[in-house]
Amino acid sequence: MTLNDRPLVIPVVLGSIRDGRRSHNAARIIHERLVAHGHQSIILDLLELDLPMFTGADAEEVHPGVVAFRGALAASDASVWLSPEYNHAYTGVIKNAIDLVDDELNRKPVAACGLSAGAHGGIRATEALKTVLIEMRALPIRDSVHFGEARALFNANGSLARPEFISRVDQVIDELAWHARALRWGRDTLPLPTRD
Ligand SMILES: Cc1cc2nc3c(=O)[nH]c(=O)nc-3n(C[C@H](O)[C@H](O)[C@H](O)COP(=O)(O)O)c2cc1C
Repeated sequence: MTLNDRPLVIPVVLGSIRDGRRSHNAARIIHERLVAHGHQSIILDLLELDLPMFTGADAEEVHPGVVAFRGALAASDASVWLSPEYNHAYTGVIKNAIDLVDDELNRKPVAACGLSAGAHGGIRATEALKTVLIEMRALPIRDSVHFGEARALFNANGSLARPEFISRVDQVIDELAWHARALRWGRDTLPLPTRD
């Protein structure tokens, strides 16, 4: 196995903490497909991590949720960020989580995925999220999964009522993995540009 054949580490950030949320079903499906593709993945559930609101206080640096979140992103080769669309935007908990991160996403690809009750599957949320992730020096890829009409998308047991979404998830994973391998090689091999 060459260095770049190592399994990719691709966590899924679950950016919905709402009571009765549906996004956890979509996050689980993405996670399951990542594992099926041979990648290492965990779900970084912002509900479980219970991150503090960012204030810049020293205590935030040692908060167990912040330590776990930043540690998982630091160890990652890429990540999938799943946000429901709330008021035409990604969620506040995702923005707070980003504000708590330092350089853990630097030169790593990201797939921004969305979910919404409407037909467009959170596209306004994902497009806005990509713009913010660029500021972290992450590299959002073009492709996303947009889980639209979410109220009818999952069965009572959380399984997909529309299995055609699986092939879209698989396409996005393949795109993300290609970028992850290329950028891992780049981070391991190429000198960084100097900055003033
Ligand atoms: C505060 C709030 C704002 C919402 N705004 C939108 C919206 O702008 N567009 C849309 O299609 N759905 C909107 N919805 C519906 C959500 O997309 C839908 O409830 C979805 O299931 C939310 O994901 P969640 O179940 O993980 O919370 C909104 C829901 C909430 C709770």
